[in-house]
Amino acid sequence: MIKKETIDRILETARVEEVVGDFVQLKKRGSSMIGLCPFHNEKTPSFHVSPAKGIYKCFGCGKGGDSVRFIMDHEKYSYPEALKYVANKYNIEVEETEVTPEFKEEQDRRESLYIVSNYAAKFFETQMWTSDEGKTIGLSYFKERGFREDIIKKFELGYSPDDWTALLDSAVSEGYQQSFLEDVGLVVKNDQGRVYDRFRGRVMFPIHNFTGRIIGFGGRTLKTDKAVPKYVNSPESDIYHKSNVLYGLFQAKKAIRDLDNCYLVEGYADVLSVYQAGVENVVASSGTSLTDEQIAIFSRLCKKITVLYDGDSAGVKAAVRGLSLLYNKFLKNDLITLDNKSVIKESFDIRIVLFPEGNDPDSYIQKFGASAFKDFISKNEKELVEFYLTTVERKDLDDPIKKIKISDEVAEILSNHPDPEFRSVYIKKAAYSLNLDERSFLNLVNSKVRGLQKRLTVNEDIVLEEQKVLEEKRLLDTIAPDEYQEKDIIRVLLTYGDQLVHWEEMTDTYIGPYIITNLSDVTFANPLYARVVQYYHDELENGYLPKERDFIQHPDTEIANMAISMISSPYQLSENWYNMHNITVPNETDKLKGTVMGAIFHLKKKKINAMISAKQKEIQEEKDEANVMILMKEYLELKEVEKYISNYLGAVITK
Ligand code: UTP
Ligand code: MN
Repeated sequence: MIKKETIDRILETARVEEVVGDFVQLKKRGSSMIGLCPFHNEKTPSFHVSPAKGIYKCFGCGKGGDSVRFIMDHEKYSYPEALKYVANKYNIEVEETEVTPEFKEEQDRRESLYIVSNYAAKFFETQMWTSDEGKTIGLSYFKERGFREDIIKKFELGYSPDDWTALLDSAVSEGYQQSFLEDVGLVVKNDQGRVYDRFRGRVMFPIHNFTGRIIGFGGRTLKTDKAVPKYVNSPESDIYHKSNVLYGLFQAKKAIRDLDNCYLVEGYADVLSVYQAGVENVVASSGTSLTDEQIAIFSRLCKKITVLYDGDSAGVKAAVRGLSLLYNKFLKNDLITLDNKSVIKESFDIRIVLFPEGNDPDSYIQKFGASAFKDFISKNEKELVEFYLTTVERKDLDDPIKKIKISDEVAEILSNHPDPEFRSVYIKKAAYSLNLDERSFLNLVNSKVRGLQKRLTVNEDIVLEEQKVLEEKRLLDTIAPDEYQEKDIIRVLLTYGDQLVHWEEMTDTYIGPYIITNLSDVTFANPLYARVVQYYHDELENGYLPKERDFIQHPDTEIANMAISMISSPYQLSENWYNMHNITVPNETDKLKGTVMGAIFHLKKKKINAMISAKQKEIQEEKDEANVMILMKEYLELKEVEKYISNYLGAVITK
């Protein structure tokens, strides 16, 4: 268990814009920051971060919370995992209370998988830096390849001894469970039940997730024997999903965002060499073609991707078509906003560079250095379609069947681009270079574009459906009795509760306690709001004045969620909000008084009105004259109160 003091320190230190900023490109917008929501696919940013309040909120999908919550949601971490992540980011030492053996066992499985993976990485590192075999075989290999020590350390490279059970034995002797090692594929069990290390006599490349935890490995053999696979990789596991991992992303993400460009290379070695030369915005797809998830990752980080291929890479041509999916950042996404025009505008700028025969980015940059490397790229990078056209050979165009296939492919690629202007420019170029009739080629592309739009429309229906549900919910909100007034009270309580005010008849008054006292006679119909009021009331009894933070981080997640939604209403995050509501600096203004009193009295009025109606009904149903008289008296008293409230509202509050 993490100590309370540590948790407090973490929460106090964390800057939400920094924690979120590691994952989402944020732009300043007034007092808050906005970006594309990482929790759902969207084209227009509805993800707001409020540095002042320490929270984020997406008005598209509704997710919201503080820094720790963000890490929990984004990385699928448990609360302690997320706390540790944030602590690590800010170099806060995590103090934990004694961990019992039972607790250790209870720790969730995923955490154990991370832990054994981390253990293995450290083991491989130690082997490489300290054992004779590691130094003479592993370390010297890396050094021969030109990798500096700082880079070897930064990427946590290591060496797995040429032994069947080196890792297994070491891990088990240190108390790690064999089953976890099996679960992440670090050890393998064969049909005879024999258990042994997957990686033996290989230099090791740990693979990190976005937050820097180790989730898998690539191991390169040092043998030249063709029968031995050059690379052995960790299998998929509960913590390693190849489709959403890019090698080097953890180390590269900052540079990618800063430079708004990413180099995509093929191999581990390419990443290391390019990074080492100071070109830090580089990741590898590790030998597979790009997946939708990887595209989604890019789409949140940058607008341009430069794909670097080995001169003798076999799959370049085949890859182009897949890469064209990158054109439309949102092609495969499940959400299309109704305003199609603004949606379809955004696209990646995709460039392809082919390195000279026999060279890959690794060898090129090692030989010629970073500036020659960048020079080479800027001179040789080609726009994707353009690149494709250069790969077409004249003789293919002489073969009518091949020619049809090629033009179909180019049309397919072009149809993925969201910008009609881009398409029309390249339709001309392609028609010219493939020697096609421009009109019919244009028709071909357009028919594919329409096909695509049709597929997207299906998704649009889903969105419409979702909107309808939302609409209904809103309607329900308006007809639900007292809902609005109660909500407003809660909002004021959360937002201004701990504020000290000096109003004529009430000096040195905290708004929260004032509200609670004044509403002691009111029962909240909404059970959630009732819980909030109860909580507030109880804390006050304990001598504690709840702060906004207490609600945002409330252990009752329903309360926390509600608090986050309320505090970060779209208006509030907008810089115009205060102006719109004529609220300047809250404690010096009568307007705040209006807000507070308005909330209290509107709710009271609502309640009184309900009581009046109930009383009327009672009177109508009462047969006994004497009782009717009593009820009438009560009725008139209620009417008096209502009149008083109405007058008060009319005079003081213009709401
Ligand atoms: P390369 O063969 O180009 O590897 O494969 P490399 O990284 O340039 O390695 P060096 O320079 O020979 O040391 C590119 C990538 O494809 C994957 C690896 O991710 C590799 O980095 N690959 C390759 C495998 O997964 N298995 C293999 O057997 C070969
Ligand atoms: Mn290589």
